[in-house]
Amino acid sequence: MAFSLSGLFGGTKNEGSVVGVDIGSSTAKVVQLRSSRGIAILETYGEIALGPYADQPIGKVVKLAPEKMAQALADLMKEANVTSKSAGVSIPFSSSLVSVLDLPKVDAESLKRIVPIEARKYIPVPVSEVTLDWFVIPQDEATDSAFDQLQTQTKMQARGQEVLLVAIHNDTLHTYQSVMETVGLNAGFYEIEIFSALRSALGHGLAPIMIVDLGASTTKMYIIERGIVRMTHLLTLGGQQITETLGRTMNWEFEKAERIKRERGLVSSSVYADEENARIKEALLSTLSRVFGEVNRVLLSYGQRYNKNVSSVVLTGGGAALPGIVEAAKESLSAQVSIADPFSHTEAPAFLGDVLREIGPGFSVAVGLSLRKLKRA
Ligand SMILES: Nc1ncnc2c1ncn2[C@@H]1O[C@H](COP(=O)(O)OP(=O)(O)OP(=O)(O)O)[C@@H](O)[C@H]1O
Ligand SMILES: [Mg+2]
Repeated sequence: MAFSLSGLFGGTKNEGSVVGVDIGSSTAKVVQLRSSRGIAILETYGEIALGPYADQPIGKVVKLAPEKMAQALADLMKEANVTSKSAGVSIPFSSSLVSVLDLPKVDAESLKRIVPIEARKYIPVPVSEVTLDWFVIPQDEATDSAFDQLQTQTKMQARGQEVLLVAIHNDTLHTYQSVMETVGLNAGFYEIEIFSALRSALGHGLAPIMIVDLGASTTKMYIIERGIVRMTHLLTLGGQQITETLGRTMNWEFEKAERIKRERGLVSSSVYADEENARIKEALLSTLSRVFGEVNRVLLSYGQRYNKNVSSVVLTGGGAALPGIVEAAKESLSAQVSIADPFSHTEAPAFLGDVLREIGPGFSVAVGLSLRKLKRA
């Protein structure tokens, strides 16, 4: 699926255009933006299923060799009429490590020494094989009462400082670099998909919220507070499993189960008998409820660790397009639920509004990448 807007905006000039590239486990997505007087204008977007590049159906999780990945991306860029060469590229959370470290309060110079040593405790491979980055999490002040501040200070003296550690395996980076080279894109940066998603899926609130990215192979959960990632969690359960369970229950091939899941989801349809409707719904919910159960566990554990309530959950990723998911999530989750609308950060022709809201969740990462690239292009 691809849609090019370049015709609507006068030719294919691409000065100042940037493209966000998100290669997921089942689908690759691109979003091209251009800046005009500080506004991010949507030039084109598109996605392509990766399954067929490994002789698998749409919706299947595949692990493609770099050459195949490059071929899929090249096809997508052609189909979507991507003209920009300046890219921002996401790295899957599952190929990276994000942790909050509790460290003694030392200056930036000493941190440079301490973090790599400390990182060894968290990283299951030699530190020399990964690229490390980190960020000191600012102390929570603005929202605390004086009494809380006092408490926080004593706590901080005892605890030191919190540092957000990020590590990407060098092999992963090299793979992505070679793919970008093959398709002729200049990757200005690579970032772990968390940071891209939070840029496009979040509003401006300070209160802790959770982003739940419902992908094909995994479900990713990020708790964000004051715009900063405070907790992450990876669940190896996603949309592919939802399709497989549905297929098994209804005795359908993967392709059919995938199609019916997307078309009707949890919403009953007159095409089916009542009994069938009920079975379809039950099959979908059996996997979804495991995902929601895990979300609730993470919400609870954050609440206990930081003594704070995460009151809002934003669903993103292709799985968030499941018809009826909001109602199901509201029933199961101990928080408010909404669906990410990443294209709301961009300007597009009004007639596309509904489509962009519908397919938006799957593009959160790609939009977030291009928004960042746009600022620095
Ligand atoms: N309308 C829909 N209803 C339900 N599920 C959908 C719909 N559209 C797409 N999906 C599911 O979303 C998943 C793909 O989403 P997405 O593109 O975010 O995953 P990905 O990035 O490839 O995977 P991952 O993030 O796990 O690597 C697939 O499992 C697909 O079946
Ligand atoms: Mg994804």
